[in-house]
Amino acid sequence: MLEVTSSIAEVRRKVAMARIKGLTIGLVPTMGALHQGHAALIDAARARCGYVVVSIFVNPLQFGPQEDLKRYPRRPAEDEALCREHGVDLIFAPSDEEMYPDRQLTIVEVLELTRGLCGASRPGHFRGVTTVVSKLFNIVQPDVAFFGQKDAQQAAVIRRMVADLNFPLEIAVVPTVREADGLALSSRNVYLSPEERKAAVVLYRALTKAKEMVEKGERSAAAVRRRLLETIAAEPLAELDYAEVVDYDTLEPVDFIDGKILLALAVKIGRTRLIDNFVVEVRDELRK
Ligand code: PAF
Repeated sequence: MLEVTSSIAEVRRKVAMARIKGLTIGLVPTMGALHQGHAALIDAARARCGYVVVSIFVNPLQFGPQEDLKRYPRRPAEDEALCREHGVDLIFAPSDEEMYPDRQLTIVEVLELTRGLCGASRPGHFRGVTTVVSKLFNIVQPDVAFFGQKDAQQAAVIRRMVADLNFPLEIAVVPTVREADGLALSSRNVYLSPEERKAAVVLYRALTKAKEMVEKGERSAAAVRRRLLETIAAEPLAELDYAEVVDYDTLEPVDFIDGKILLALAVKIGRTRLIDNFVVEVRDELRK
């Protein structure tokens, strides 16, 4: 049966009870406005863990001063219904005061991996993410935490944080869920006008074309990146933030495509900034 709490002490009590019963603890950290992408994270958690906690907290620390903190969608009743439908045990939905009772003077920051891609246009964003995720890990103490592949840089940064700081848990990354036309599900898709919604599929189109090039044997990252840029440029409502071909783990740009890489895009459609990526794995026998 689903329970909901805003209290850190209550989460600790409930999780301790689940542990006494011998259950594995799964955590799905979210900012609410839940959609089928979050449902896939919850289903993955449900499949692996005996006790599933979903945190819902719009974390002010990860929003820049010009970003959409105030208008970020908040739908607690719908979120609760989705969690109930997908068999969540506990929603942890704290207030700002519960999470940050005092000025947060302690910051968790992953260096290097946070410099490029979204880190370049959202200074301080990943510091906010890693700080709140560390707090959530310390509050819930899960065995496994679930993140979406759509936020590829976030997933890589958190994997690295967990390794570097010896957090005793596993990070599971769940594939991106898409609309029928390929648009990656995102809580921010609600900002798109009908015309912008149609244009937004350009991210998926560009990634698909770029991936096809690699599958046909193209190994020059510059050529693949050019295809991404050309496809985005052909959509009048799209304004490019970045198009990159980077290593899956280090997020460093590559010249030659080999091993596991990310094709990563951030594009503004009207006022809405969307991100998407494909993971591509190439094992060229010749290079071994
Ligand atoms: O991906 C998100 O929704 C957020 O960045 C997260 C991980 C819940 C931290 O606030």
